Amino acid sequence: MNNSQSIILEARGLNKRFGGLIAVDDVSISVHKLGVTSIIGPNGAGKSTLFNLLSGTFLPDGGSVELDGVEITRLSPEERLFFGMARSFQITNLFFDLTVIDNLRIASQILEPRSYLYLPLRKSKIAYKRANELLEEFGLEESRDQLAGALSHGQQRRLEIAVTLATRPKLLLLDEPTQGMSQVDTHETADLIKRVGANTTVLLIEHDVELVMDLSKTVFVMAQGRKLAEGAPAEVRQNPLVQAAYFGEELA
Ligand SMILES: Nc1ncnc2c1ncn2[C@@H]1O[C@H](COP(=O)(O)OP(=O)(O)OP(=O)(O)O)[C@@H](O)[C@H]1O
Ligand SMILES: [Mg+2]
Repeated sequence: MNNSQSIILEARGLNKRFGGLIAVDDVSISVHKLGVTSIIGPNGAGKSTLFNLLSGTFLPDGGSVELDGVEITRLSPEERLFFGMARSFQITNLFFDLTVIDNLRIASQILEPRSYLYLPLRKSKIAYKRANELLEEFGLEESRDQLAGALSHGQQRRLEIAVTLATRPKLLLLDEPTQGMSQVDTHETADLIKRVGANTTVLLIEHDVELVMDLSKTVFVMAQGRKLAEGAPAEVRQNPLVQAAYFGEELA
């Protein structure tokens, strides 16, 4: 299906400058519903900046963003959450001195009716139920009462993904969720992302090219702020521009 109804995220002509540097240069992307769509590219290509524009962390100098047909270009990240967009950060974003279950309960709190938002966590029944679902789904039951700061790196990244899913977003943006992970943790996380992609659209930034090729239905390649190529993994891999700019050394 290639019609507009199957598109969940549509960014047109996005631009972002930092002083004299053009970090994102006229980038347009369309993300289709469900599965995993990935953005790859060398360090400094503008991937995280593009995410920041899509998620509302930065406002663009030009261009627009639509989520499921709604223009959200100038909405804050919190407002975007209500429209169904959630994101993780390249740097961990957990409360290290709270337990695993409490991290999940806080993240789930938004599901409560507004009048419940300021009640003690233990009274937030909807949030509590959602937190327990996520514990189970992400295999974190045994770490339930551990402090997030005491978890292994792999478990922390897993908890982070669980936290971002607390509000049942339609679209989840993940910025290098496997960064710094061991190979075993990376593979587990990849499986997890694949499973998440069955019910939620995932837009993923990832350094590990093999992982991306295996996981994604569509891949966007960025280099020096611009979109260099897009398509199915096999197509992108064959693209001479991509070969030269990105895969050259690794795959030649
Ligand atoms: N807040 C900022 N202020 C100034 N320059 C920035 C800022 N954020 C990013 N940049 C610059 O913009 C360019 C793109 O950076 P960005 O972090 O988007 O790249 P990236 O593709 O995510 O890289 P990496 O793979 O290293 O995470 C880089 O030259 C970076 O130094
Ligand atoms: Mg980055």
